[in-house]
Amino acid sequence: MRVAVTGANGQLGCDICTAFSDSGHEVIPLNHDALDITDFNLARTKFEQTKPQVLVNTAALHNVEACETMPLKAFEVNGVGARNLALLANELDFVLFHISTDYVFDGKKKTPYIETDCPFPINVYGNSKLCGENFVRVTAKKHFVVRVSGLYGTNPCRAKSGTNFVQLMLRLAKERKEVRVVDDEILTPTFTEDIAQQIVVLSKVEKYGLYHVTAQGSCSWYTFAAKVFELTGAKVNLLVADPTEFASKVARPKYSVLENSNLKALNVDIMPHWEEGLRKYLKKIDV
Ligand SMILES: NC(=O)c1ccc[n+]([C@@H]2O[C@H](COP(=O)([O-])OP(=O)(O)OC[C@H]3O[C@@H](n4cnc5c(N)ncnc54)[C@H](OP(=O)(O)O)[C@@H]3O)[C@@H](O)[C@H]2O)c1
Repeated sequence: MRVAVTGANGQLGCDICTAFSDSGHEVIPLNHDALDITDFNLARTKFEQTKPQVLVNTAALHNVEACETMPLKAFEVNGVGARNLALLANELDFVLFHISTDYVFDGKKKTPYIETDCPFPINVYGNSKLCGENFVRVTAKKHFVVRVSGLYGTNPCRAKSGTNFVQLMLRLAKERKEVRVVDDEILTPTFTEDIAQQIVVLSKVEKYGLYHVTAQGSCSWYTFAAKVFELTGAKVNLLVADPTEFASKVARPKYSVLENSNLKALNVDIMPHWEEGLRKYLKKIDV
């Protein structure tokens, strides 16, 4: 298969390129400087030239604070950009994988969200990603909308100054005697390599639609940090931060755990528990 990847040098995009290439597929990596997804004509030219059979769109404006201050830009990239790719998927006949987010939910539920739960985003980022999902779902005949959560991987997250939560914790543990982390936001941190491998598996199944693709289980950022320190033997005093201490100006869901219901229904859920994902990641970065 010929697989194009947008945002190919991003945290998730890099792993998706590697996973498809390791599975014997031809990969066409498209970085932002080669293709801006908001430019419909450029996108059409690129895909006419490269003729992908599958396109994985990881490109997004996903810095939550930046989205809040630049709503037009957020909707241009996350909404209209996704629409451009959906229209081209039909015109040029390729399968579109579109990466979305747990932030389409408001976090008021107390049990894992399934794909049929009604989204209700509470910030600009979540609204713009839901807009992109909707464009893809109503436009592209052959689509997979893949919601992911709490990403960390071996490649730098470009929108977050090249770092991730695990790297940040490891750095703070070296610099300080005490680290404080919030315990009131529950999610499922997910290793990007696991998502990439799950997408390769999904690409073999012609069951188009909406999928939650996260690791199994859930935890707070505090519990996640505690596991990072336990597994690396970091000598640091971990404390629960007061919720006001790192208060964000932008509303975020307090609970955004996703259940991979549709993967499970197809019997293709290969996502490991978040602790296993973390162990694999720590081995790779050789702490
Ligand atoms: N990180 C998370 O925790 C998280 C959680 C849930 C969902 N997601 C979703 O996961 C996906 C991948 O995120 P990531 O962590 O891999 O982020 P990342 O490292 O910041 O990668 C995003 C990529 O998109 C590119 N990009 C941005 N605007 C573009 C445009 N207009 N046209 C083409 N490319 C553009 C970026 O290139 P430049 O840097 O050169 O602009 C970068 O290569 C996104 O769709 C995001 O919404 C992420």
